Amino acid sequence: MRIDIITVLPELLSGPFSASIIKRAQEKGKAEIHLHNIRDYSLDKQKSVDDYAFGGGAGMVLNIEPIDRCITQLKQERQYDEVIYMTPDGELFNQGIANQLSLYKNIIILAGHYKGVDDRVRQHLITREISIGDYVLSGGELAAAVVTDSIIRLIPGVLNDETSALTDSFQDDLLAPPVYTRPAEYNGWEVPELLRSGNLKAIDDWRLEQSIERTKERRPDLYKKYSK
Ligand code: 6GU
Repeated sequence: MRIDIITVLPELLSGPFSASIIKRAQEKGKAEIHLHNIRDYSLDKQKSVDDYAFGGGAGMVLNIEPIDRCITQLKQERQYDEVIYMTPDGELFNQGIANQLSLYKNIIILAGHYKGVDDRVRQHLITREISIGDYVLSGGELAAAVVTDSIIRLIPGVLNDETSALTDSFQDDLLAPPVYTRPAEYNGWEVPELLRSGNLKAIDDWRLEQSIERTKERRPDLYKKYSK
């Protein structure tokens, strides 16, 4: 899978992709992440990428030309399954969307900044708009990193134990159960006896029960979906 991220702040994204699972996915050849600086596609001397909004108002708006130039060049090189714009007024991101996107071969993610992009970008160049939650970030870069991470870890062969993505919270509308490791007792705080019993069937049953209890208590909205 290849993900092309278009941004005015590539330096904000190089860090998150050069550590841990995402780094390993790239080293193993399972994923390619390419960062594109919109400024590199600006043709004027000042390399400007934004301008004042028509009609007035505070905040700069990203110009369509450099973004179009970048997307057009990428599209000439390969076919894209989706051109995603990260924006707080997009569709609310969740595990289901991550699962869908992880099946694609090539996607473009445009990270907005300032007051947003010229709306003609959204009307003509974008195929899908995604928000990662009901709060405001300074730009779409961190949101693009969140979406990219959630997709890449789902690609077969990226996680060491492939079943571990299947047992994630949300994969079946349930939160994950609690986990423990050694020591079995610390400060008098004990690991549940059952988990040390070696009774795999009983442990599975306990984990499901814990998942259900946690979901009921913490996320009644999810629990409703699960019990439907
Ligand atoms: Cl995708 N962008 C920005 N700027 N803020 C957000 C967001 C995206 N998702 C939630 N908040």
